[in-house]
Amino acid sequence: MSMPKVSVIGAGNVGATTAHLIALKGLADVMLIDVVEGLPQGKALDMSQSSPVEGFSVHVQGGNDLAALEGSRIVVITAGMARKPGMSRDDLLAANVGIVGPIADKIKQVAAQAIVIVVTNPLDVMTALVLERTGFPRTRVMGMAGVLDTARLRAFIGMRLGVPPSDVQAMVLGSHGDLMVPIRTSITVQGTPVTSLIPAAELEQILQRTKDGGAEIVKLLKQGSAYYAPASSAVEMVTAILRDSHRILPACVKLTGEYKLRDVCMGVPVQLGAAGVERVVELKLDAADEKALQACAEQVRAMIGGLAQITVKS
Ligand code: NAI
Ligand code: 2OP
Repeated sequence: MSMPKVSVIGAGNVGATTAHLIALKGLADVMLIDVVEGLPQGKALDMSQSSPVEGFSVHVQGGNDLAALEGSRIVVITAGMARKPGMSRDDLLAANVGIVGPIADKIKQVAAQAIVIVVTNPLDVMTALVLERTGFPRTRVMGMAGVLDTARLRAFIGMRLGVPPSDVQAMVLGSHGDLMVPIRTSITVQGTPVTSLIPAAELEQILQRTKDGGAEIVKLLKQGSAYYAPASSAVEMVTAILRDSHRILPACVKLTGEYKLRDVCMGVPVQLGAAGVERVVELKLDAADEKALQACAEQVRAMIGGLAQITVKS
């Protein structure tokens, strides 16, 4: 049986870790692409040499030419700059629009049937950019952030309660930034509401730590940003699509009236399967969460306004 092909653009920290996880799990043949000559080739060769030890037989190749995207079932975009200390995700906008825009054009040209998972920041705006530049339906363009933000929250609650983090269910929605919206009523430990396990004030601190989760790691690393959990999160989405699992995961997609929002890309629960985003799942939210989602939408719209100015100038 032939293996599906997943291409990962950007062979930096997130891209290379994503590629290796896909190989380790034997999910697909991987094409790793970067502008830096030798980097994707060297990393792909190194990963291939882990195959006898790890026991995978999928192929990992590296290259510098986006023409190699041809035949990809899924393309994961991680190319671009990562945040430096003191730099917000939004500061990355101008730098990354010039990288991701042309990549989207090339995907449209050579991998017109692919499903695209955007990772590059600022995530919600980059997802909108890829959607616009590829002209793909919203079912085939999504951003990864909600799985990561939710994973951070699940990890913190698992640590606090001394339970396996995988037993903690949660949902973090909205934009991938300081305004993200952890849905309190969604947080349970094997069905038990977290509000009956952790005092309210302490839970608020955990939610704040989740919102600051990316910045906390940037501060510790001093250069670059998180990549292990981001790569795991992207691979969870890749897995759901390749396995046609119909799992409900948070992802950034274009809204067309869901959550009373239209024409904005933002994190909401979606069902993922072979076709990509099979449907947007509408949770019943309380007024505060609805308001918080509206605030995210306004912030993303303002950034997309900035994006239009950058595009006009370039
Ligand atoms: P990195 O700096 O380690 O890697 C980025 C790679 O992109 C570099 O190897 C660079 O050569 C490559 N690149 C630049 N322009 C390119 C082009 N035109 N074509 C192909 N490759 C190109 O950065 P890292 O840590 O891998 O992060 C990548 C991006 O992902 C950043 O924008 C970061 O902010 C974002 N990110 C997003 C997360 C999310 O939750 N959505 C989580 C973690 C990172
Ligand atoms: C993160 O949340 C940098 O967006 C990235 O770690």
